[in-house]
Amino acid sequence: MSKRDFLDLIDIPAADLRTILDDALTTKRARQGRLKGEVDAGAPLAGHMLAMIFEKASTRTRFSFEVGMHQLGGSAIVARAGEMQLGRGETVEDTARVLSRYVDAIMIRANDHADVEALAAAASVPVINGLTDRSHPCQILADLMTLEEHGIDLASAHLAWVGDGNNVCTSFIHAATKFGFKLTIGTPSRYAPDEEDVEAAQDLQARVHLYDTAEEAVAGADVVIADTFVSMGDADADQRLDLLEDYAVTTDLMELAKPTARFLHCLPAHRGEEVDAEVIDGPQSLVFDEAENRVHAQKAILKWCLNKL
Ligand code: CP
Ligand code: NVA
Repeated sequence: MSKRDFLDLIDIPAADLRTILDDALTTKRARQGRLKGEVDAGAPLAGHMLAMIFEKASTRTRFSFEVGMHQLGGSAIVARAGEMQLGRGETVEDTARVLSRYVDAIMIRANDHADVEALAAAASVPVINGLTDRSHPCQILADLMTLEEHGIDLASAHLAWVGDGNNVCTSFIHAATKFGFKLTIGTPSRYAPDEEDVEAAQDLQARVHLYDTAEEAVAGADVVIADTFVSMGDADADQRLDLLEDYAVTTDLMELAKPTARFLHCLPAHRGEEVDAEVIDGPQSLVFDEAENRVHAQKAILKWCLNKL
């Protein structure tokens, strides 16, 4: 069996993604009431080591992977790329070959998606994408898990993305091809998602639709999703804040979605910028379940990568 990298949802069979989500939901339930440092029954990744490399800042990804690895009975080593020889010009390929001799899997948060692909190609162990300029697949599995926990049927749900058509949005587009939900995306044309990703998804019969306004995208939605207007590495902050102002998730915008609609945001959030405090801190918001579920979803991803699922 070839090694299992977790780089983009579009590349992973829908049945495997379903298996990962099911395991995440079951294992989370089985741990209820236990201390966060307690190891899961059977310690499924006992003896396993994970390397984590960060080229960009992180709170959730960094902590949730390390906690998750511990709960699976394994261990993790974390390094900022700038503290590694990688930051002094050692190649991604040599880094991959060396780390493959030390650890059983590598998680990387990188500026350039191509570097993650190069790392995966040169590594003999599975590589997990912990966010790149292109995508954030771990986040979206946690998001979908959260929606299912709250009784939302993914095959029939209408999800609406508003704001920047960024890395997180791209992974939702990929997920739409696997889980069948309808995805409406409202962005200014300057910040629309990559045309190739949208067309590829539509060619796979995914129900992905682009709109110029937030209002059109959100109309009748079951779930409204926002993210920061300025992502890590974006150089045009002023222009973004200007062009994206009308795409904020306000209480008025939420009124256009279903009365039962839920709100998601991967965090970190900027209250008063891409989302009103009343929305993100209100009863429709699921953002802290979403953040918690990073642990549970990623544990299942790790098990899948290491052929335990
Ligand atoms: N949502 C997310 O990936 O958060 P961090 O940047 O804190 O890891
Ligand atoms: N789009 C954001 C997500 C952060 C988790 C970024 O890339 O900075």
